[in-house]
Amino acid sequence: MSSVANGPNPAHASTAHPAGPKHLIFAPGGSTTHAQAAQFTKGVLSAKTLAASPLTQFNAWFREAQASGIPSPEALTLSTASLPSGRVSGRVLYLKELDERGFVVYSNLGHSRKSHDIRTNAFASMTFWWREIERQVRIEGKVERIDQAEAQRYYDTRVRGSRIGAWASEQGQVLGRRKLLSKEDTKKEVDALAEVEAEAEEQERKHAPDNSSSATTAKPGIEEASISASGPEEEAAKLKINGDILHHPHPEEAAFLAAAVAVDANGKPDEEMGRHILEDRVREVEQRFEGVEKIPVPDFWGGYRIVPDMVEFWQGRNSRLHDRFRYTRDLDLGEDDAPWTLERLSP
Ligand SMILES: Cc1cc2nc3c(=O)[nH]c(=O)nc-3n(C[C@H](O)[C@H](O)[C@H](O)COP(=O)(O)O)c2cc1C
Repeated sequence: MSSVANGPNPAHASTAHPAGPKHLIFAPGGSTTHAQAAQFTKGVLSAKTLAASPLTQFNAWFREAQASGIPSPEALTLSTASLPSGRVSGRVLYLKELDERGFVVYSNLGHSRKSHDIRTNAFASMTFWWREIERQVRIEGKVERIDQAEAQRYYDTRVRGSRIGAWASEQGQVLGRRKLLSKEDTKKEVDALAEVEAEAEEQERKHAPDNSSSATTAKPGIEEASISASGPEEEAAKLKINGDILHHPHPEEAAFLAAAVAVDANGKPDEEMGRHILEDRVREVEQRFEGVEKIPVPDFWGGYRIVPDMVEFWQGRNSRLHDRFRYTRDLDLGEDDAPWTLERLSP
């Protein structure tokens, strides 16, 4: 398991802890002038150069992001919100298509958290961040499902393993579970870790300017500590809150929750918390489609198109005085008839 606590923290070189509560991370950009969260100086966005449609403007920026060698410029954060609770969730996806109507991503549309959210609330947002050219694009709009024939066309381009995987994974469903530490244990673990971090910082300061190696002390898994901030029963109960069913309740829920050790979704002790269930499922699907070249796209899998009614282009500028331009339109007027309005926003 990777742990956020297991690597050197670049902030150590320059960040002095202020008095006050212990932080595991504090101002990671650093506090000296040269290390401070970087200035944005790579470009300007002139109103005169903006396209009439945000889709063509996006296309131009995407091509520039690709040409500048940015790794995975198609990576975006898709944010959705569930109703009636209003709970928001975000995750990274890949943009797979841009057409004259909007932005298309592919995913599990039947079991996943995002699909649950979108079934209750068709509005979503996408955010792109292209660090190397200091640009951000924010998109908001209405989500619609693309038709399955179109989804099949994209699905056919995926490597076989990914096509099998789409069938095998009920994305977001619980495969296993275990009790985590108590609140007191969590606090102890975080305090101990903060001590180690503070000591590592002290060592780095002592050995400056050679500060390349002293912060790499292995530490316990903070990821686990940080998600166990309340009791395990409370955590488990929180999987269903405010009317949101984040995961289907398991038939053996009681035994499942009472287990003091790691269990799989069948309630059987399993240190790997159900990885085998997924792998068994993959084997079943492989058998089912043995010798079949054209695997049908599962009906619970496919594409979402965000039809935008807001697209903002953000170009970082010096002293946080960024250029921001927002295109908006009223989709109620009809996608084809609604004119776009362009505004410059204060940074
Ligand atoms: C770089 C990157 C690209 C990803 N691309 C996709 C994708 O295109 N489709 C997808 O369903 N999940 C993708 N994922 C996984 C999602 O972030 C997420 O774990 C998954 O969709 C389940 O989200 P949900 O439970 O909120 O619905 C990607 C993750 C990363 C880090």
